[in-house]
Amino acid sequence: MSREIRITPSILNADFSRLNEEIDSIAQVSDLLHLDVMDNVFVPNFTFDFDAASKIITESSLAVDAHLMVANVDDIAVKYAEIGCASVTIHAEATHNIPQTLKNIRSAGARSSLGIKPNTSIEDYAQYVDLVDMYLIMTVEPGFGGQKFMENMMEKVRRTSAVIGDRPIWLQVDGGISMNTIEIALEAGADTFVVGSAVFNASDPAQMVVDIRKFATSKVES
Ligand code: DX5
Ligand code: ZN
Repeated sequence: MSREIRITPSILNADFSRLNEEIDSIAQVSDLLHLDVMDNVFVPNFTFDFDAASKIITESSLAVDAHLMVANVDDIAVKYAEIGCASVTIHAEATHNIPQTLKNIRSAGARSSLGIKPNTSIEDYAQYVDLVDMYLIMTVEPGFGGQKFMENMMEKVRRTSAVIGDRPIWLQVDGGISMNTIEIALEAGADTFVVGSAVFNASDPAQMVVDIRKFATSKVES
């Protein structure tokens, strides 16, 4: 197998009191910063409102991959694209007009992405394949970092990879990715990896990103 690997660290488990330093520490070695936006409605947890998220996005030394875990996401998703996110993920379960919102995200200059929760089937959303730049397959129930990787999602990752075919669409997995689980997700077809607690609980977060990338790259080249 040969494919480009992307590592997108999630700051959910970073130290929020020194967030800019935490972001700076991994910026040189990471592809995008994965920003988990939670509204305490779509998921039972709250992280940032739009103003707080905007501040992080505009100050970040690394381009942002916004993962919007918010209900009624359609209008706010476009605002995230407009303030300069590189990628905006909406959840299939949280939108009222998937094709229009995906188009609006692209028109505002960001990559469009559709997120799929563990109990949601990819087949219902395969029809949007030409409107997405990425599918995000959740490998935990969204809401919290540090949860156990759901290996039984790998069948869905495989089916998503088949839906994508040879289109240049990224396939991201999010939840429980570490040195111990990344190989399984790679084999299923993922190429873009959110890594939260495994990076920010490490004594040297940047080194962990480097090590995970090196390991994943060695697997796709072998
Ligand atoms: C969970 C978030 C994830 C989370 C990943 O709802 O979407 O991005 O921060 O953290 P780990 O890698 O610790 O599972
Ligand atoms: Zn996430």
